[in-house]
Amino acid sequence: MHLYINNMSYFFNNLLGHAANFLTVIRAARLTASTDVTVLILGESGTGKECLAQAMHYHSHRAQKPFIAINCAALPENLAESELFGHRKGSFTGAFADQQGRVQAANGGTLFFDEIGELPLNIQAKLLRFLETGECQVIGKTHLDKVNTRILAATNLDLYQAVQQGKFRQDLFYRLNIVPLELPPLRERLSDLEMLLHTFTKKLSQHYDLPCPSYSKATLKQLHHYKWPGNIRELHNFCERMLILLSGKTIEPTHLPSEYRAVRPQIEKFTLPDTGINLQSLEISMINQALYKTYGNRSQAARLLGLTRDTLLYRIKKYAIEFKVK
Ligand SMILES: Nc1ncnc2c1ncn2[C@@H]1O[C@H](COP(=O)(O)OP(=O)(O)OP(=O)(O)O)[C@@H](O)[C@H]1O
Ligand SMILES: [Mg+2]
Repeated sequence: MHLYINNMSYFFNNLLGHAANFLTVIRAARLTASTDVTVLILGESGTGKECLAQAMHYHSHRAQKPFIAINCAALPENLAESELFGHRKGSFTGAFADQQGRVQAANGGTLFFDEIGELPLNIQAKLLRFLETGECQVIGKTHLDKVNTRILAATNLDLYQAVQQGKFRQDLFYRLNIVPLELPPLRERLSDLEMLLHTFTKKLSQHYDLPCPSYSKATLKQLHHYKWPGNIRELHNFCERMLILLSGKTIEPTHLPSEYRAVRPQIEKFTLPDTGINLQSLEISMINQALYKTYGNRSQAARLLGLTRDTLLYRIKKYAIEFKVK
């Protein structure tokens, strides 16, 4: 008992972040972790889907049992069924010995289907049956095995679109999607950027035994404009690169790798339509969107708009904008 309480805080504590949209996901993950409900973790590459799945496992009554991750994209189609559900010796050419499937190996624990969108269609039907009945068919066995394995799944694809295209079973989609948890991309939780940057830099400096570099204000501003397509993983790798190349120095924008320097605030790409715009309505709409995205957090909303908090408060008052968290 004691062990897994330590583990669970360890794993959730490993997921750093204070942004409102991130904490909403963590709160939901903590609530669902202790149940056996199937959870679909969504989010772009590098947003922490696997970390979240692990944290949920170690926060559940299954913590002492195995957590097994399976990458569906790496499953050869002809071996997928046997990998997942196992086979009996002699059940097909090449089946030289009994083999346990991953579903059985994770009995009592959690099986994490990473990149679930890549699961072959014929296996999707078998997974659905397992999710609905808790039973699975070992290849070559005549009876069904009852297994107590909790399923978590993750994808960075739009599964709903995959369903429309006939690449993913609709019934499995709805079965998996009971509780969807969508991790926000880093560019939508920029209020965490500096904290993550400093935490990673500090940990890496201890690991490499090198003095930390520091980041000038102008560099930090530049990093806020970058889109971070590889999300937290990219940020971590970036910190590692900067530490190794510029250990102990102050990092100025000119030190940044070209892809981080080239970015400009997106607004500079905005082209005024020939028909013109209503600047005041646009401003009100932007403020509303920023408040909505940040769940009404004025400081974070101000940052998204490139304003100071005071300026934002002034404009909220000026336009009598009312925002209530629903
Ligand atoms: N909130 C976080 N705090 C600290 N580190 C994080 C956080 N989220 C992710 N990471 C780190 O970022 C890296 C990528 O995380 P993870 O592998 O869980 O992402 P993913 O969403 O599964 O990515 P992919 O879709 O590419 O498989 C890992 O090194 C992980 O430790
Ligand atoms: Mg992953």
